Amino acid sequence: MSLPTITIVGAGQVGATTAHLLLMKGLADLVLLDVVEGLAKGKALDLAQAAATEGLPVRVAGGTDDAAMAGSRLVVVTAGLARKPGMSREDLLDANAAIVGPIADQIAARAPEAVVVVVTNPLDIMTALVLKRTGFPRARVVGMAGALDSGRLCAFVAERLQVSPASVQGMVLGSHGDLMVSVKSSITVDGKPLASLLPPQEVDQLIARTRDAGAEIVALLKTSSAYYAPATGVVQMIQAVLRDAHAVLPASVRLEGEYGLREVCIGVPVELGAQGVAKIVTMPLTDDEQHALHRAAEQVREGIAHVTAKAAA
Ligand code: 2OP
Repeated sequence: MSLPTITIVGAGQVGATTAHLLLMKGLADLVLLDVVEGLAKGKALDLAQAAATEGLPVRVAGGTDDAAMAGSRLVVVTAGLARKPGMSREDLLDANAAIVGPIADQIAARAPEAVVVVVTNPLDIMTALVLKRTGFPRARVVGMAGALDSGRLCAFVAERLQVSPASVQGMVLGSHGDLMVSVKSSITVDGKPLASLLPPQEVDQLIARTRDAGAEIVALLKTSSAYYAPATGVVQMIQAVLRDAHAVLPASVRLEGEYGLREVCIGVPVELGAQGVAKIVTMPLTDDEQHALHRAAEQVREGIAHVTAKAAA
C-alpha cells in the first residue's frame, strides 16, 4: 500500500518532532527539508532507522533540495527563527517573512495540490503570507496555533483541578500571541462550566498562563522554544486531513466575513477534512470575546500590511 507523502520544511526541533510523531503513527512517507547542509539528511537517516527498528514501512528522505517535496499531500512549514528569551513572536516578523515567502513559492511550484500547515511565527501573519504567495484557496492553508494553545489551557485547568486533561474542553481563538482569546464560556470539565468550579480570578490566572505559556518555556529552555506540544498540535491537524475526519479544531484561517472579519488570518474553530478547511464554525462569543477577537485581528492585519509593504519596497 502506498502512503501519502508529507513534507516538513524546517528540520529544527518542531519539524523533527513532528516527523517523529508522524513516523511512529505510520501514516505517511516523510520528506524533511532544511537549508542547513546535512541537518535534514541526518535527521531523515535517524528517522528511517527508527522506522526500521519499529518495523514500520515508512520511507523517510531528507535534504536541501525542494524538488523532493513534489506531489506531497501535505506540507508543514516550520522553517524560521525561534524566539529567544525576552523576544515576542512579532520580533521574528521580518526575518521569518524572508524565509517563509520563498518556501511558499516552492510549495506552489512543487506541491500545488497540497494542504499546507503553517507553524512558523508570528503564526497568523506567516499563514497569510503563505496563502498569498501560494495563491492556494484559503481551505488549503491553515496555521497551527489554536490546537496548541487550547491544549495548554486544558493542561493548566486539569493540573489545577487534579483531573484528567481528557475531561477538560476549551477553545483558544484569536492570534497566537499576546492577544489570543481563551473563550471562557467554552471551558468545561466533565461538561460543567469552569466558571462553576473556580472563582473568576483563578480562571483568569489560568488564561493568563495559557497566553504566556510559550514564553514560560522559552525562559526555561533559553536556547529553544517549545516543540513537543506544538508538534502534537500539527499532528492532530494532519490526522484530521488524512482521515477526512471533519474534526473541529481551532486553526488560523483567512476569514471572508465570518465573525465580522475579512482579509485577515486568525484563529477560529474550523472543520478539518481531506481538502483542508471544510467549514468555518461559528461559535457563540460574548461581546467581550468578539471585541478581543477583533483586536487580535487588527494587530495581525498591521503585521500583514508591514510584510506586504516590505515586499513591495
Ligand atoms: C509556542 O507558543 C513556539 O509559538 C510557539 O511555544
